[in-house]
Amino acid sequence: MKKVEDYVRSIPDFPEPGIIFRDVTSILQDADGLQLAIDEMQHFVEEVDCDVICGTESRGFIFGMPIAYNLHKPFVPIRKKGKLPLETVEESYDLEYGSATIEMHKDSIKPGQKVVIIDDLIATGGTVEACAKMIERLGGEVTRIVFLMELAGLKGREKLAKYDVKSVIRYDGK
Ligand code: PRP
Ligand code: MG
Repeated sequence: MKKVEDYVRSIPDFPEPGIIFRDVTSILQDADGLQLAIDEMQHFVEEVDCDVICGTESRGFIFGMPIAYNLHKPFVPIRKKGKLPLETVEESYDLEYGSATIEMHKDSIKPGQKVVIIDDLIATGGTVEACAKMIERLGGEVTRIVFLMELAGLKGREKLAKYDVKSVIRYDGK
């Protein structure tokens, strides 16, 4: 039987020479791969207290939404800056290639709510660290962070050391 990592396509030298790009589109375009990826991530969510699932634009939406739907939880989208119409909190962070600002609606998390963050990939951990900071500023408690893939060589887990971090697939390199 195929494992979820068997569905990931690895593309050498993208977006830069020496980088192996771990492509999630090859999982999504296979019905079995898609189901396996969601099921395995969802299993990690089911193990902890969770009132709300947060996913970050854009690949965090792909994986977070089906899990929220399956578990009958609300889904809060964390968006790239400039897309949300009401009052927001925002955070800027460094990416592996450049920097970015993300934001979420102030009323999207109620104080005391337990939140699980979902994303496809942890590289440096900067994206999800920014998400966690905003959630905490709104009074939420991050009970777990779930990734499909982890690039362990970039040591993102160290940045997220105070959180409970799970990943379905671990790659030792960058
Ligand atoms: C990618 C990926 C993660 C993040 C991981 O998103 O989907 O969200 O980078 O990197 P980090 O751990 O170093 O923060 P990207 O910003 O490329 O945007 P996308 O999800 O819209 O493709
Ligand atoms: Mg992303």
